[in-house]
This record gives sequence, C-alpha cells and structure tokens, in this order.
Amino acid sequence: MNNSSGQRILLSNDIPMSEFHSIATLSIDEYISKGGYKGLSKAISELKPADIIEEVKKAGLRGRGGAGFSTGKKWEIVDSSTGDKKYVCCNVAEGEPNTFKDRSLIRSNPHQLIEGITIASYSVGANDAYIYINEKYTEETAILEKGLRDAKEKGYLGEEILGSKFSLNIEIKKCPDKYVTGEETAMMEIIEGWSAKPRQKPPFYPSSRGLHGNPTLVNNAETLSNIPHIILKGGDWFSKIGSPKSPGTMVFTLSGDVKRPGIYELPMGTPLRKIIYDCGKGLNDGMVFKAVFPGGPSNSPVTEAQLDTLLDFDSLRDIGSGLGSATVIVIGDSTCIVNTVLKFSRFFMEESCGQCPSCQMGTVKLFRLIKKVEDGNGDMSDLKDIEDTCSLLKNQSVYCHLLMGATLSVEGAVKNFRSEFETHINEKKCIYKSEDILATI
Ligand SMILES: Cc1cc2nc3c(=O)[nH]c(=O)nc-3n(C[C@H](O)[C@H](O)[C@H](O)COP(=O)(O)O)c2cc1C
Ligand code: SF4
Repeated sequence: MNNSSGQRILLSNDIPMSEFHSIATLSIDEYISKGGYKGLSKAISELKPADIIEEVKKAGLRGRGGAGFSTGKKWEIVDSSTGDKKYVCCNVAEGEPNTFKDRSLIRSNPHQLIEGITIASYSVGANDAYIYINEKYTEETAILEKGLRDAKEKGYLGEEILGSKFSLNIEIKKCPDKYVTGEETAMMEIIEGWSAKPRQKPPFYPSSRGLHGNPTLVNNAETLSNIPHIILKGGDWFSKIGSPKSPGTMVFTLSGDVKRPGIYELPMGTPLRKIIYDCGKGLNDGMVFKAVFPGGPSNSPVTEAQLDTLLDFDSLRDIGSGLGSATVIVIGDSTCIVNTVLKFSRFFMEESCGQCPSCQMGTVKLFRLIKKVEDGNGDMSDLKDIEDTCSLLKNQSVYCHLLMGATLSVEGAVKNFRSEFETHINEKKCIYKSEDILATI
C-alpha cells in the first residue's frame, strides 16, 4: 500500500461509505448501480430543504475538517442568513503533513462527493459551489472534472436538476499547496483572487458572511461525502454508528512506524490501540511503541498507557489531545520525539502566513529552542523556555488556529515525554535514531 499517494483504501463492511468504494475510481454508471444519486433524487423530490437540515442534525454529523463542528447547525446558520446569493465550498486543501483521506475519497468515489455537494447546495439555497482543491492533486482534479461532466450529462448537475427548479454550477478552484490555504477564511481570499491570509472572524463567519460578503457553507470533502448516505438511510441510522456524541465513521490516515500504513474507515469510538495493532499490524519489526499523535502535528501525542482511549472528538479532548482530521502518526522507540516535534515546528514556522506577530515570531522561537535541545546544545532553562513559550502563545492566534496547533504538539511532547528532552540535555546529543516518518515534510 502506498500511503503517501492515497492509492488504496481499506474498509470494513458495516460503515457508511465502504460499499461505495473500490480501488479503481467508480464510474457514474457503477455508482448509480450501487444506489448512487438516489439520495439527491429523494432530497429534491420528497424533502424540503428544512427537512434535510433536520435529518443532518438528527444524524449528529460533525465536521471532518478538524474542528468537529455540528454540520446540521452550520447548514442551519447558512440557510437562515440573508445575502444576494449563497455559496457552498468543499474543502480539499489537505495541506497537513501525512493527511491523504480526502484525496483517497475522491480517487475511489468522486460522485459520492458531487452528490453530497449538490444536496448541501439545495438545502442551504446555493446555486454556485466550489471544490477547492490542492494544486498538487492533479489526478484527483481530472477525476472530478470528468465526474462533473458525467453528472451534468445525466441531469444530476446544471440547469433544473432532475426536472426540478433547482440549478447548480460546481466549479473547481485550485489552491496553493500550503497548510494555511485550508483555513476557511484564507480559502475565501483565494477564491476571490487574493493571497492565502486568514481573515478576522465575526461570529459564524463565513456561514453568515463569506464569499463576496454572502453566506457561505464551508465543509470538508469527507463531511460532504457522508451526506448522500444520511439522506438515503436516515439520520437515525447514522446516529447509531460510532460514538453517541461523535456519530458515524472517520477516514483515518495511518502513518509512521507501523507495518501497514494506509487509509482506514472506522467507526468513531474505535480504540486507538485497534487502529495501530489491528489495521496497522503493529510497529515495524524490531520496534517498540513509544507515542502516537492521534490528530496529526496540531495535537498532543499520546502515551502507551492512553492507548485504550477512544478515537472520537470528545474522548481525545478529555485526555488533552485531539482528533483533528484523523491523521494518526505512530512513533516507535527508534524515532526521536524531540526530532519529531522539531520537524513539526519547522513546518509551522514555514507555513505561518506572517500577519500575526505572535505567530510569525513565536513559531521561529519555538523552532530555535527545540533545535537547540535536539542538537545537544540546550540546558534546563531552554526546556522551561519551551514550556513557557507554548503556554504564552497557545491562545494568541489572532486570525486562525495555526499557532495554537503549533504549540499543542510541543507542549504535549514535553509533558508526556519530558525524560527524552532531559536526556538530550544531559547527554549533550540525540541518542535516538530518527526514522523519517513524515512523508511530506
Ligand atoms: C491552518 C488551518 C488549515 C486547515 N486546513 C483544512 C483543510 O485542509 N481541509 C479542511 O477541510 N479543513 C481545514 N481547516 C479547517 C477549516 O477552516 C474549516 O473549519 C473546515 O473546512 C470546515 O469543514 P467541516 O465543518 O466539514 O469540518 C483548516 C484550519 C486551519 C486553522
Ligand atoms: S495565526 Fe499564523 S497562520 Fe494564522 S493568520 Fe495569524 S500569522 Fe497567519
């Protein structure tokens, strides 16, 4: 399995999207033969927009782009906001290291996403939608372009969809391969033709005031891929899968020091241990488990003693970590944790857009301090400085959460793996081999 190209997707049977997936891209005819576009047909012919929003709320679906915000509530805000027109934006920026889930969903089943965007647009009253996609995803962009053409030809897109009064145009908008471009207000800037700088947010921005000042629904590609299944099988059905407060499944990108890295759709609430040892088949030969970042570089690492924690938004938050966009990075004993967070902090330093002084200067300071310790030149006062800098910076992001993410993994690494930082200081060098676990850094 090639975990960095997203070429394979491994799924079990009892979960929403599994039966719709294949290694090869599902054509529109194959999708339709498996029940595809029936959700859209039901939505348009049998349901009012308010009924659909109610169904999504009943499902309890929470956004898969990182924050876990209630999807139904977000749709309701867009629906009730006024403007000259409304927009839907599907987020496929996917600029976080070691994250490939949206790419895989598109490769295996583009129509599931197109159907989800169309149902969302019908529900909130939008006639224009964007698929905002990372420019490095050239193959996925071509798949989507063909998907949009095929859907239009069969009447699922374009003017008067399925004979109704509802029309929708979906445009593909490429974005630079930078982490901050995935932040929803930076996305607005790019679509409007500016550079990727997050905007200041009044409450419920951009749901109430987004593209060109109009109400705009922003959802992650995986969030929207769940929608056809919810509409077809019902919110009650969906709400029974996974954890009570985080229903459904999540598509996890598993990487790092495991035997079988890959992309796995699992019910929310699956124990962390299971994805590492059942799906990933455990640590690489000769390695012993050290740590896992269950929510990518923006969340705290978890220890062996915490491996029975459930993979959902609330359980991980309760132990001081987070699910993020389900990027699970496993660290074995021959990978240095200081070196790992050094790579993370270099990533955040380079990705900061520079408009908040605390982020621009703080990410540089953190990188330099961690590098000093990793190189064996640090002392205990540097370790204290790392801790103080993290707690000072944590809540100082002005326009977006990049800075908070940059501090959380470092703060958690020092808290849970302090002895490893101290060993670097006492030995005046790094005594751990460092596997290159970060595919894109
Ligand atoms: C620095 C940064 C990068 C982000 N990158 C992405 C991304 O690549 N994809 C994504 O869906 N959300 C990303 N987000 C979250 C979006 O701002 C937004 O919350 C999300 O697209 C909403 O969709 P959801 O409600 O379906 O999760 C990012 C946020 C931040 C702060
Ligand atoms: S927190 Fe950092 S990345 Fe986000 S807007 Fe401010 S400077 Fe830019």
